[in-house]
Amino acid sequence: MIEVTDLTKKFQDKKTYITALKHVSFSVESGEVVGLLGENGAGKTTLLRAIATLVQPTEGVIRVANYDTLKNPNEIKKKIGVLFGGETGLYNRLTARENLEYFGALYNLSQHETKVRIDELSRMFGMRDYLDRKVEGFSKGMRQKLAIARTIIHQPDIILFDEPTTGLDITAANVFRQLVHQLKQQGKTIIFSSHIMEEVQMLCDSVAMIHKGELIYHGSIETLYEEEKSEDLNYIFMSNLVRGS
Ligand SMILES: Nc1ncnc2c1ncn2[C@@H]1O[C@H](COP(=O)(O)OP(=O)(O)OP(=O)(O)O)[C@@H](O)[C@H]1O
Ligand SMILES: [Mg+2]
Repeated sequence: MIEVTDLTKKFQDKKTYITALKHVSFSVESGEVVGLLGENGAGKTTLLRAIATLVQPTEGVIRVANYDTLKNPNEIKKKIGVLFGGETGLYNRLTARENLEYFGALYNLSQHETKVRIDELSRMFGMRDYLDRKVEGFSKGMRQKLAIARTIIHQPDIILFDEPTTGLDITAANVFRQLVHQLKQQGKTIIFSSHIMEEVQMLCDSVAMIHKGELIYHGSIETLYEEEKSEDLNYIFMSNLVRGS
C-alpha cells in the first residue's frame, strides 16, 4: 500500500545541504496504523510530505497505492487525506460548513454526499454549534477538529496526520483517538506522527522511529516490547535514540 525504498531527501540551504532523510526504507500494509516517532527535526514531517507527493525525493522511490509519487502524484492525491501540523488548509473568511463544502467539491463529491459527510463529521467532532461561524474566530482546537474533518471528507483510503492532537484538549484528543479506531475498523491505512507515547501505544499496530533522518526501527509494537523486554515505549524510544546516535 505504501512502499518507501531507499529514500534520501536533501534540502539546499544556501551552499550547504541539509540531509533530512537518509536511505529510509519501509512499507505499510493496507489497514495498518503506524505511529511515527522522532525528536524535533528528525525528519517526520519531511517523510510524510514525501509520501503525500509534496516533497520530491533526492534519491529513492515511494509508491502509494501502486503509484509512484514522482510519476503519478495526482492519482495519489485523490486517494489520500493529509493534515500537517500548523497548516490547517482552512479558509478564515469562510464558515466551517463552507470550508467543508469547498473541500467536498475539490474531491468531486456531489452536493448530497458532501451534506451527508458534513452531518456525520460535525456530529462526530461536536462541531454543530459552530458550523455556520466564520473560521477566523475559531480557537486552536476548533480549527484542528475542522481540519481533521476536511482531511477525511472524501473518505480517503490512506491518511497521513502530522501531530494531529497537538493543541487539542482532552475531549477533542479523545475524539481523534476514537476516529482512528473507527477508520482502522474501516480498513484505512494511517500514518501519524506524534510526540505522545501513550497515543501511539493506544492506537498503533506498528511504530517507525526516526533519528536524525535515519529509520532506526520499524515493526510491530508487540515485537518491539519483546525485543526490548519492556512495555514502556517512552523508555524504549529513549534507549533507541541513545543507541542510534
Ligand atoms: N523546506 C526545507 N528547507 C530546508 N530545510 C528543511 C526544509 N524542511 C525540512 N527541513 C529540515 O529537515 C530536517 C527535518 O525536518 P522535519 O520538519 O522533517 O522534522 P520533524 O521530525 O517533523 O520535526 P518536529 O518534531 O519539530 O516537527 C530539519 O533539519 C529541517 O530543518
Ligand atoms: Mg514535524
